Amino acid sequence: ADQSPTPEPDRDPTAPGASAVEVLAARIPEDFTLGVATAAFQIEGAVDEDGRGPAGWDEFTERPGAIAHGDNARRACDHYHRVGEDLDLIRDLGVDSYRFSIAWPRVQPDGRGAWNQKGWDFYDRLIDAMLARGISPMATLYHWDTPLPLEHDGGWLSRETALRCGEFAAEAGRRFGDRVDRWITLNEPVSVTLNGYAVGIHAPGKQLLFDSMPAVHHQLLAHGLSVQALRASGTQGAIGITNMHAPVHPAGRNPLDWIHARVVDLMVNRLYADPVLLGRYPKPPLMARKFFHALRDPRPEDLATIHQPLDFYGVNYYYPARIRSGPGPTPEGVKPTKAMKKVPFHLADFPEHASTGFGWPISPKYCGVVLGELKQRYGDALPPVYITESGASFPEPAQADGLLYDDERIDYLASHLGAALDAVAPGGPADGVDLRGWYVWTLMDNFEWAAGYSQRFGLVHTDFATLERTPKASYYWLRRLARTRAGSQ
Ligand code: NOJ
Repeated sequence: ADQSPTPEPDRDPTAPGASAVEVLAARIPEDFTLGVATAAFQIEGAVDEDGRGPAGWDEFTERPGAIAHGDNARRACDHYHRVGEDLDLIRDLGVDSYRFSIAWPRVQPDGRGAWNQKGWDFYDRLIDAMLARGISPMATLYHWDTPLPLEHDGGWLSRETALRCGEFAAEAGRRFGDRVDRWITLNEPVSVTLNGYAVGIHAPGKQLLFDSMPAVHHQLLAHGLSVQALRASGTQGAIGITNMHAPVHPAGRNPLDWIHARVVDLMVNRLYADPVLLGRYPKPPLMARKFFHALRDPRPEDLATIHQPLDFYGVNYYYPARIRSGPGPTPEGVKPTKAMKKVPFHLADFPEHASTGFGWPISPKYCGVVLGELKQRYGDALPPVYITESGASFPEPAQADGLLYDDERIDYLASHLGAALDAVAPGGPADGVDLRGWYVWTLMDNFEWAAGYSQRFGLVHTDFATLERTPKASYYWLRRLARTRAGSQ
């Protein structure tokens, strides 16, 4: 039954008086993909079931003080046992595609050697259940859940992890290559390096600062090997990678702000994009060159492996960054580590913008700026683009208590999709970018890494005590958008 609080539109979306959602829907190109995204570790739970092995993240959540309120992901949304219910929510939402991830430790508990058939069976059923509901699968291979034995042997600091990841990709391609429409090799390798290996607020909690650089190279190598393996396995679907991008600017006139901003821009926007799209590492600014020593002499044949032709490029955009020199306050909900205190700059405020529950500045314009920068930097080397994550957390109650009016999330989503469409329109700052789709992060409130359950990003409210799912107003908003656009029935 239609429980939408808003009536279905019966007007011409371009007529005067059309609602904002109708106007936005009318601007969505006919073959544009609308989707929602999640990741295995954040939703599945069932960490000890059916032969799953532990991930580095399972161990990390046990460290005292590592996760807000001491939360862990042992149960999370219990999606492992509620697949049908969750896919029904996606079907009723009316979006085209679901981006999920395959938990490596579920299908290969040791990260090498034997496969766990029951783990593969879970994803086999998940994919079939999606297809039965008319939902197109987009599968992420690596969304941060490194099998613990590999993590103990060095994780991404070790070349072996890249080789093993390629084998995981080959097996996934062999099993699901006939049914997955789009593949993402890695999700946000920059976050893994910086949060996990440089400052230690994510698993594996290493605080290596610039000595974390091997994690850059090995993740990129894993990407290249995974693309090769997927292609060799005869997969039918499109293949890409997802990188996080954020426009980076100096906060003030201090020349140190400028230098630090350049280094951050390089680390966030170029270190994982240049090798993938151009086949070379970016040149660090002179003053920072010594920090990038580990990248100076990578094996040249690795760069050829990393530089595989891609069918699409995935972009996660959340917020712009303004860099100010000197130590600053630690981000919301994060316990500062020793390494973090050594970082000689911090993210400055955007007093002119409202912010999300995480304190992230809300600036849709920069979503377009990101797309424009990509076009400018990579030109014809930039394949078609999907925004593979867009969304925001806001303070919301633990119990839904009827319909939750998350107007701020609706504004966030509408303005970001609108800005992305504006940017790629003729004459826009990203004119020429072939934007193929937009995925909302995330279907339902889930385990938000170091912030535990304290940051709610969902279109659907999750009650973590009862595991009840309750669609928020933003869910009904997206449903109306999906139904109203051209080409939908
Ligand atoms: C990016 C990550 O891919 C996802 O796992 C995370 O939950 C969101 N950002 C929000 O922080």
